[in-house]
Amino acid sequence: MTLKKLFTEYSEALQGLYSKNEAETLTTWLFEEILGKKRTDILRDEPIEQLPEALENAMEQLLSGTPVQYILGFAPFYGREFFVSPAVLIPRNETEELVHLIIKENQKMGVRLLDIGTGSGCISITLALEMNETIVYAVDVSEEALELAIKNASKLKASVAFEKLDILNDEIPFHDLDIVVSNPPYVRYSEKKNMHRNVLDHEPHLALFVFDEDPLLFYRVIAEKAKKVLKPGGKLYFEINEALGKDIQKLLESLGYSQVRVLKDLNDKERIAVGIYESN
Ligand SMILES: C[S@@+](CC[C@H](N)C(=O)[O-])C[C@H]1O[C@@H](n2cnc3c(N)ncnc32)[C@H](O)[C@@H]1O
Repeated sequence: MTLKKLFTEYSEALQGLYSKNEAETLTTWLFEEILGKKRTDILRDEPIEQLPEALENAMEQLLSGTPVQYILGFAPFYGREFFVSPAVLIPRNETEELVHLIIKENQKMGVRLLDIGTGSGCISITLALEMNETIVYAVDVSEEALELAIKNASKLKASVAFEKLDILNDEIPFHDLDIVVSNPPYVRYSEKKNMHRNVLDHEPHLALFVFDEDPLLFYRVIAEKAKKVLKPGGKLYFEINEALGKDIQKLLESLGYSQVRVLKDLNDKERIAVGIYESN
């Protein structure tokens, strides 16, 4: 067997589930991480004596639809690697855009910031590392998610205070915040049918879904509670459902936030909402 032959075999098998491009990218990723082989090694068509069991297991899981990030146990985010498990959402590119905007718009030192629904900790940890002497708090209702976020903060040497909190039922125990950020669950159950099986079957539904009857539940509760803990002039940043930009804009304005913006991501989808709390 040679690397090239195996590569072709694996990427063709994956084409039942993924596009040709995705299948090749996934196979390359597995070869790099498990065999330590680069694309150039594949092209050079190196011989391989024996297939490692880890590679065969990983391929089996990929074919059953498990996302590659859960198989390998990590995912890239804003230039770093985060541990992930099925207890947390796999960090997304659009969330990197939200983080990038916050960094760009908040350059002063000593910003006090809270991330609600932190999951893997990708938002809070990245902001703690990229911003100037920030004081960062992060909460989630899921204990398993918090355990993983703490592991990520420790690996990446980020200072973040994590706490278990159910934002729908608990009050926010922090105060004088400059920024509240959240990427809350925002996919309506009715949108399930448009989703890829590997997301539906493997990513945590607690992180993804809201009831159709009240898709803005998290936005409303967070925006209301944030008003009590933001400093005057403090900012609220949300990642949003692309279909609900106008509704979220109206919601934030009706709750008294000013200079409300809904921004598009690189794919031209409305994905970010920002509002400023000017005080009552
Ligand atoms: C869309 S995921 C975002 C995860 C991570 N911040 C990211 O951007 O990749 C939403 C997160 O909200 C958490 N969550 C769901 N319900 C919650 C609640 N009632 N209170 C606090 N967090 C909640 C989930 O556990 C999940 O980690």
